[in-house]
Amino acid sequence: MSSLTAPRQVPAAAPAPSPLLRPARTLTRYALRHGLPGRFLARAARAGDPVARMLRERDLREQPYAVHDRLRAAGPLVPSALGLVTASHAVAQEVLRSDRFGVGFDGSAVPGLLGRALRFADELDASGVAERPSMLVVDPPDHTRYRRLVGRAFTPRATAAFEPMIRRTADALLDDLTGADGPVDLVDRYAAQLPVLVIAELLGVPTDRRADFLRWGAAAAATLDPGLPLRRYVAAERGLRAMHGFLRDHFDHLRRDPGDDLVSRLVGLSGEEALTERELHATVLLLLGAGFETTVNLLGNAVVALDAHRDQWDALRAEPAGWANAVEEALRFDSPVQLTSRAARVEVEVAGRRLSPGTRVTLLLGAANRDPDVFPEPARFDVTRRNAREHLAFSAGVHYCLGAGLARLEAEVALRALSERFPRLRIAGLPVRRDLRTLRGFEVLPVSLR
Ligand code: HEM
Repeated sequence: MSSLTAPRQVPAAAPAPSPLLRPARTLTRYALRHGLPGRFLARAARAGDPVARMLRERDLREQPYAVHDRLRAAGPLVPSALGLVTASHAVAQEVLRSDRFGVGFDGSAVPGLLGRALRFADELDASGVAERPSMLVVDPPDHTRYRRLVGRAFTPRATAAFEPMIRRTADALLDDLTGADGPVDLVDRYAAQLPVLVIAELLGVPTDRRADFLRWGAAAAATLDPGLPLRRYVAAERGLRAMHGFLRDHFDHLRRDPGDDLVSRLVGLSGEEALTERELHATVLLLLGAGFETTVNLLGNAVVALDAHRDQWDALRAEPAGWANAVEEALRFDSPVQLTSRAARVEVEVAGRRLSPGTRVTLLLGAANRDPDVFPEPARFDVTRRNAREHLAFSAGVHYCLGAGLARLEAEVALRALSERFPRLRIAGLPVRRDLRTLRGFEVLPVSLR
């Protein structure tokens, strides 16, 4: 019997960790996930490793494209502080689509002192979206099982049914901006609000908690980055704990009083399909976090690119059918998720190089999306680019973004509505980038509306 059809053992819930040990656990987690990798990256950056420098130095992070070009020129797979890295579209796509690579790293299987430290540090309430059993970091067959359970809510038909709600929400947010005197922060008032309202509505979590979600999510998004300083890690963990606390109360509420929404369905699964408490937390945390922490970046990045290419903004206003492709070009040109990684599961050959099992390859999605072999004149922003949709901004293969259709629809509706309501919108101050490495977007985007 394959592991896909074998009856699943639903493990009993782990005993709650003693609160007395919490600081020791937090420090161990910090040391393992950020402190030690951070020191390693710092040393590599000092030795001139371009990838480590790009991760650590803010100006290189804000303008990474020269580093990407250098890496691409150095070859399809370049050794770096993050293992092998690629800036090549073909190689990134090949790795992402290959079943010889996986995302899995299971700390529970590590032997010795390191294994003991990993198990000691492991705690549901401090776990982020990129920790097991989040589907993002789980290989088939578990990945297939998680994805199937939630996939129905994200089919093209289910997504399209949300269009009127997205439109209404965008219009209401724009109504609130109409009376604004002087510059407004477009991220705070629009780009961040729309995605959180939409995903909360889709999942059936209370939209009136959106300010909390945004605050917790902004802190927690940093956990995707390697080598955080302690202060930021502690803030991120505080955000995660608050989010898990909210989810626990919400699941309890839905057990007593289920609704007609995705989370109620996940909470109510029984028999072989039942999710453990931990799987439930990981799945809903990922859907919620991925739902609003990424689309905000796409909206901000798109507005900045269009502001710098005014003729294209005006052309889209005259020909709104072009918005769908403009969204693809914005995803390609300034990708909201800059990198991800995979590890070889077996010996495998990539770009003429033999990789042994366990070899990690970092895929610079933002760089692959500017690979001149696929996108002629890649540094040119062109909303009519024919093959813009070939970008890897939503990844590829089995982990291809589950919410890609929703993100595309939200962005198309949001940008079109914005351009129709405020055709004279201009950037009116210095946009400030979020201090993140994996995600790329703006924290503050001052605009004048008329
Ligand atoms: C512009 C917006 C978005 C971008 C750029 C984006 C990007 C990505 C990327 C690159 C991955 C795969 C990472 C990897 O291969 O390691 C991913 C996975 C995922 N995304 Fe998105 N995403 C966006 C919006 C959304 C939205 C709105 C949702 C809604 C819930 C969502 C849910 C997910 C989920 C659940 C996964 C995990 C899929 C899996 O592992 O099978 N994303 N996303």
